[in-house]
Amino acid sequence: MALLKIKTYPAKVLKRIASPVKDIDGDTQKLFDDMIETMYAAEGIGLAAPQVAVSKRIVVLDTSARDKAAPSLMVIVNPEIVYSEGDILSTEGCLSLPEFTTTVERRAIVFVRGLDREGRQIEIEAARLLARALQHEIDHLNGILLLDKVNMEDTMPPIKKAAN
Ligand code: NI
Repeated sequence: MALLKIKTYPAKVLKRIASPVKDIDGDTQKLFDDMIETMYAAEGIGLAAPQVAVSKRIVVLDTSARDKAAPSLMVIVNPEIVYSEGDILSTEGCLSLPEFTTTVERRAIVFVRGLDREGRQIEIEAARLLARALQHEIDHLNGILLLDKVNMEDTMPPIKKAAN
């Protein structure tokens, strides 16, 4: 395994729409392992392949350290949100935007379909942090960063009332 360099904004690869994976071969397995090692080393809860300069639809996630009810390590290839429910506002950061956080509205519950690392069809029902992380990582596959989701009310100075 090897640590990969995490690309940070404004790297162009972060803005590209990633390609679906057609064939999970030995190189792809090595990429999964390297992404996992890189995510843990960076103390992240998720990592998308474009963040390590590979424009392919692959995400790895592990939210179990912060949510005991969540499943541990997951590799999802070609993930797709097939159903979602509710809206929830919370603060997020991103390994590709060091030192930056913003509040983002996300769906509260998501059903994600994709392939596991062996190429088997999987469907995941996720809530709480995992639901948020899945949406964040899938955004990366579509070239969408937190910067594109900035809540203006968060960043605008409060409107001052005229003093009487
Ligand atoms: Ni991110």
